[in-house]
Amino acid sequence: MNKAKYGVFSNILYIIRNVWRVDRILLLAMIASVIATVVQPIIIIYMPKFIIQFFEEARPVADLMRLVVYFGVISLIIGSIKSFADGYLPRKIAYFRSMKLGSEMALASLNVHYKYLSSDNGQQEIRKARQAMSRGNIGIQDMANKLILCTANLIGAIVYIFILSALNPLVIIALISCGLLSYLAGNRVNKYRLKTKDDISKVERKRHYINDSTRDVKFAKDIRLYGMFEWLVSLGDKFISEENEWYKKITTKVFKNTIIDGLIAFFRDGFAYIYLINLVLTDQIAVSEFTLYIGSIAGFSLWISRLVNNTIILNADSLQVSDFRVFMDRADDNIKNRLPEKEIKTPISIELKDVNFSYNDHVIYKDFNLKIEAGKKIALVGINGAGKSTLVKLILNLIEADSGQILINGIDSREIDMLQYYDLFSVAFQDALILAYGIDVNVSMTSSDQTDQEKVDHVLKLSGLDEKVKSLKNGKYTSAERYLDSDGTELSGGERQKLILARALYKDAPVLILDEPSSALDPIAEAELYEKYHDMTKDKTAIYISHRLSSTKFCDEVLLLDEGQIIERGSHKDLMALDGKYAEMFNVQSHYYHKEVEVIS
Ligand SMILES: Nc1ncnc2c1ncn2[C@@H]1O[C@H](COP(=O)(O)OP(=O)(O)O)[C@@H](O)[C@H]1O
Ligand SMILES: [Mg+2]
Repeated sequence: MNKAKYGVFSNILYIIRNVWRVDRILLLAMIASVIATVVQPIIIIYMPKFIIQFFEEARPVADLMRLVVYFGVISLIIGSIKSFADGYLPRKIAYFRSMKLGSEMALASLNVHYKYLSSDNGQQEIRKARQAMSRGNIGIQDMANKLILCTANLIGAIVYIFILSALNPLVIIALISCGLLSYLAGNRVNKYRLKTKDDISKVERKRHYINDSTRDVKFAKDIRLYGMFEWLVSLGDKFISEENEWYKKITTKVFKNTIIDGLIAFFRDGFAYIYLINLVLTDQIAVSEFTLYIGSIAGFSLWISRLVNNTIILNADSLQVSDFRVFMDRADDNIKNRLPEKEIKTPISIELKDVNFSYNDHVIYKDFNLKIEAGKKIALVGINGAGKSTLVKLILNLIEADSGQILINGIDSREIDMLQYYDLFSVAFQDALILAYGIDVNVSMTSSDQTDQEKVDHVLKLSGLDEKVKSLKNGKYTSAERYLDSDGTELSGGERQKLILARALYKDAPVLILDEPSSALDPIAEAELYEKYHDMTKDKTAIYISHRLSSTKFCDEVLLLDEGQIIERGSHKDLMALDGKYAEMFNVQSHYYHKEVEVIS
């Protein structure tokens, strides 16, 4: 069972603090709503009491008229406050949730560490936090609503206790006990909800995956071409029924609870009537008082049962608010723990020292050591799955080594502030992000007016995308995707890669890492491109990764990676002379390339 990190009182304060922080008027409106909710029924129970009392005391009619006018005016004022609050609050609270906290959560998502966000735990936490944010009838928004109601219910109950205090104190004790009983019964359901929350969210995740995949254009081709319809639908149905099973169990518990609640109310009200009628018959209270008390007992029970029900829901909402806070804390911690800037001289040396790394049980690196001298260009080669991209992620601190160190100019990478750290690297990944904005913006990765357009032109030319850009009606301002702009273009695999390369060049950081961003180009073009890059990055440390060996000749050193170890290291010439695995692979590949060149020419 998963215990919520933040308790309900802490979460109540959190909601109040945040409402006050973003919208003070909203908090005042919430308070006004509480007051109106409490006062309205009090007027209703006192009105008949005073009127009957008026007859009992045989007072002049003018007094009665005055009384009615007073009640009328107060009712009108309170009623107006209440209906204004009822109309205003839901809209404002929804805005508070979706717009204010929603954008803060988006910012937090950008501020959490990549390692965290890409981990299973991080994904689960962000999903739960999103749930707390996503709808009006659960989580944050509902907690704010229930907070208003619970406060009103609680104050109402206390006021009614005062009204009823003239009666035998046992009456109040009995009424409160009934309330407590139904609270305990209801809380059992709530505990069950808490216990099953994680299981339900797991199934929900599976269902969402299937649902999303049916809509996502990325999946659409394969789904159609491989005729995956029936399979997907049956999977979806399976998860829906699994989820339903959970909800059925909860509903059964809720239903049983409703019966218990009904029984409690039945006995409570029955005894109250018998008790009060007896008081009237024995002349201990007047009829006017009877109407007041009978109204108060019914009202008090209503306050208590609403308080109970709303508190139970508030508790459930509070679990989600806790989830939300857990995620927001991650971002806060990350911001708070920012390190002071360090002086890092260029060119930069990179060293991996006794690094161990596994994906779950799959060992990728064991006692791995590698030093790349400052300003050197190395080629990292190896078959698919050798661990090249993993090495890049380790160097970039995007994943964490199980043990060992990554040193930048001899400084442990964990001692360098992450944002400063990211600034050190220009990286081109195969699966880099293409934004649904202009090509220029896709190169600079910042707003259009912050973009150095001359530099964009320069790097587009270097990466070889300039020809394509020239052919587009809006040139480099054409959107690189159609998603937001129907005039946008769709880039081919090779063109996307050129764009990604141009981006890495534009950033112009001290370390350049190209992780097979050119696999969609033909081998000769890739080799030429890498050579071009080599000339441009004279003063930089660079890592060129490829499973093609033709791209490596110009590098200072070639590193052949195999099963998590560097098995050969040296210049292209050295390794060819060594006549080992590199030479063997090179010969096989170059044979193939020669053929390809013949076919092309
Ligand atoms: N996030 C991940 N979780 C589990 N295994 C992974 C993950 N990423 C990569 N791997 C596995 O680690 C091995 C090395 O992958 P990778 O570094 O991408 O190889 P390369 O870039 O050399 O082709 C592969 O067997 C791959 O399946
Ligand atoms: Mg790779």
